[in-house]
Amino acid sequence: MLKIFRPCDFHVHLREGQVLKHVLKENNKNFQKILVMPNLAKPITNEKILSKYRALVLKNNRNTEILFTIYLNQDCKISDLKNMIKNNLFFAAKLYPLHATTNSSSGVKDIKKMSKYFEFLEKNKIPLCLHGEHIHKDDDPYERERRFLEYELSWLVKNFKNLKITLEHITTKDSVDFVKLNNNIAASITTHHLLENTNTFLGDYLKPELFCKPIIKSKKHQKSLLSAALSGNSKFFFGSDSAPHLKKYKFTESCCAGVYSTKYSVSNILELFYSSKKTNNLNKFLTINGCKHYNLKFDNKLISYVRQKDFKFQKYSKFKNDSLINYNHFKNHWIIN
Ligand code: DOR
Ligand code: ZN
Repeated sequence: MLKIFRPCDFHVHLREGQVLKHVLKENNKNFQKILVMPNLAKPITNEKILSKYRALVLKNNRNTEILFTIYLNQDCKISDLKNMIKNNLFFAAKLYPLHATTNSSSGVKDIKKMSKYFEFLEKNKIPLCLHGEHIHKDDDPYERERRFLEYELSWLVKNFKNLKITLEHITTKDSVDFVKLNNNIAASITTHHLLENTNTFLGDYLKPELFCKPIIKSKKHQKSLLSAALSGNSKFFFGSDSAPHLKKYKFTESCCAGVYSTKYSVSNILELFYSSKKTNNLNKFLTINGCKHYNLKFDNKLISYVRQKDFKFQKYSKFKNDSLINYNHFKNHWIIN
């Protein structure tokens, strides 16, 4: 048996409509807090869109604290941001480089032209969450994250020393090292980037359900992520980047990027820490480190999980005429007692 605080997921995509209802229910079962991403088909760039989305999410929510984000781009108005902060409508700003991933066609082409926004966030103590990939049509996708550190992130940390930054869903040793070396920056890590690598993703046959952005990297990088997460280092915490796409958009000619991991993510993380004999650091990775980075209080009531061997996993969650593909890694499974 393991007793832990109810976990937090500091990076999740809820989407809209029926998918939102399904995904939020799974989140309610597992998490005390979630940080919700703003890359809807029509991104959340202003108060009107945010208020509508907030109402939709909060109507369907039961027992999880929802932290909202806005989609930061050059269309955001400082006066509108001010007003939303005054009314406590969002918690963090998310920045997507242009064409980096799903629904990023309104993303930012040149972050160095966004200084007035970064100054504003810094002044108002609003965290900046980054999709950390440098996008250039000639660059190899495997190099995007490393280049982002070099071209964008180094500039950001140098010029906005008091801005609180989260480098989201890190996938490389370079990012682990960068985050360790710099102040005011922490990183979220997903289940699938911890548990998979290029061999398991495409070494044998290609698994579209593991295709995501940033793309899953080699064993060398996976090892570095694992040691950062398992060490309990306060700069690294859980953010699943759980990103539902219907099966028909995954198993097709142009596979969408995104791994839907919510259903089994806590179980996978528990099994990882248990099998690595690091259960003493579980609360740090799943609850404490993220809350510390974001200055959040958390519920410290303990929840008991028990381990089930050779559990029968549900690979697909039915959805009208289609389904969502649940990500799972281990044979053993942890359930709430
Ligand atoms: O694989 C991904 N899917 N990475 C992201 O950054 C976005 C996400 C999505 O929204 O589908
Ligand atoms: Zn994401």
